[in-house]
Amino acid sequence: MGSSNGNGGEGGTIYEAMRLKGFSRRDFMKFCSIMTATLALPPAFASKVAEALEKKAKPTLVWLEFQDCAGNTESLLRASKPTVKELVLDVLNIEYHETIMAAAGHQAEKSLADVVKNQKGKYLAVVEGSIPFKDGGVYCCIGGRTAVDIVKEVCGNALATIAVGTCAAYGGIPAAAPNPTGAVGVSEAVPGITVVNLPGCPMNVENITATVVHYLTFGSLPLLDKLGRPLFAYGKRIHDNCERRAHFDAGQFVRQWGDEGHRQGWCLYEMGCKGPETFHNCPRIKWNEGVNWPVGAGHGCVGCSEPAFWDKMTPFYRRLPQPPGFGIEKTADKVGAGLAAITGAAIVAHGIGRLATGGRKQED
Ligand code: SF4
Ligand code: F3S
Repeated sequence: MGSSNGNGGEGGTIYEAMRLKGFSRRDFMKFCSIMTATLALPPAFASKVAEALEKKAKPTLVWLEFQDCAGNTESLLRASKPTVKELVLDVLNIEYHETIMAAAGHQAEKSLADVVKNQKGKYLAVVEGSIPFKDGGVYCCIGGRTAVDIVKEVCGNALATIAVGTCAAYGGIPAAAPNPTGAVGVSEAVPGITVVNLPGCPMNVENITATVVHYLTFGSLPLLDKLGRPLFAYGKRIHDNCERRAHFDAGQFVRQWGDEGHRQGWCLYEMGCKGPETFHNCPRIKWNEGVNWPVGAGHGCVGCSEPAFWDKMTPFYRRLPQPPGFGIEKTADKVGAGLAAITGAAIVAHGIGRLATGGRKQED
C-alpha cells in the first residue's frame, strides 16, 4: 500500500512494481491477458494493455470506508491473480485506506489531506459503504467529520470516484427499508461528479483492477450503463452466461434442495435464482481465483449487484414471476412445455402465487 508500507509515492509503472516484487515477464503478460479478458476485449489487445502498463505511472488512489461491512476490503485483500494480493495493491497504489494502512489518527488523516491538496484532480477516490444523510449525517463520523463532509471534499476533488459494492453504489443494505440513517450511494451524495459504480456484495476485485487498467490503457474510464456500471462487467445478465442455462431452456429445474436435479446441476430458477434480472460478470470471471461462483456452487443468484436488491429481490427463495426480456424463451411457464403434466402443474401453481403477490419491474 502507498506511502504507509513504503511502496507508494515513488511513482513507477505497474510493470516496474511487478519486477520489484520478483514477477517474471511471463507473469506480467499473464496478468495483461487476464485483464484483457476481464475487460471483454479481444486477446490481441493484451499487447496494448502491456504497453500501457509498462509506460504509464500507477495512479494514486485513496479508499474511504463509511457504512459498510468491509466486505469489499476483504475482496481486495483476497485478490490473488495473477498470484498474490500485493500485486493488486501495487497496481492500485493506495495512499490511504483506514483498514489496511499502518498509519493511524492524525498521521492517517494527514495522508488523506495531502493527497487531496497536492494531487487535486489527479487521484482516484474509491468509496466503500453508504453515506448517511439523516440528522446531519451523525451516524457515520471519522476524525470528527461526517461521512457527508469527507465524501464531498475527497470525491469532489478527485479525477473520478469508483463506488465499490452495492452500498457505495446505491445505498445497499444500510439503505434497505426503513433506511434509518438516510443512507445513499456516492452519486446521490455528491451529484455531478464522475462516478463508476462497481456494485456487488461484495464487488469482484478483478473489476476494479480492470477499471484502473482500462484508464491506463485508453486514457478514459470504461463505458457505463445507465446505472453507472461498466459495460464490460455489467453489460450481460447472469442468466445469459450461466452454465445452467441449457437446463433452463430444457425445462430442467431443481425443485428442492438436494433433489436429483440439484445433484445433476439443473437450473435454480424455481429455487428463487435472480440471474434473469441481474447484470454482472460472475459466471465469466467467477470468484476465489476463478474457482467458482454462487450458482456454480449450487445456490441461486440473489441479485446483489442490482439497486435496492435487499428490498426488491427478497424473498430470495421465491421464484421470479416472469423475467422480462425473455424473447424467444417466452415465459418460464412455457419452458419445457413437453414435460410431464405434474411438472407443468407445479410451475403454474407457483405462477398463481406470484400473481397474488404482484410482479416486479426490471431496473435496466
Ligand atoms: Fe442460471 Fe439462474 Fe438462469 Fe437458471 S435461472 S439459468 S440458475 S441464472
Ligand atoms: Fe451477486 Fe448474483 Fe454474482 S448474488 S455475486 S450477482 S451470482
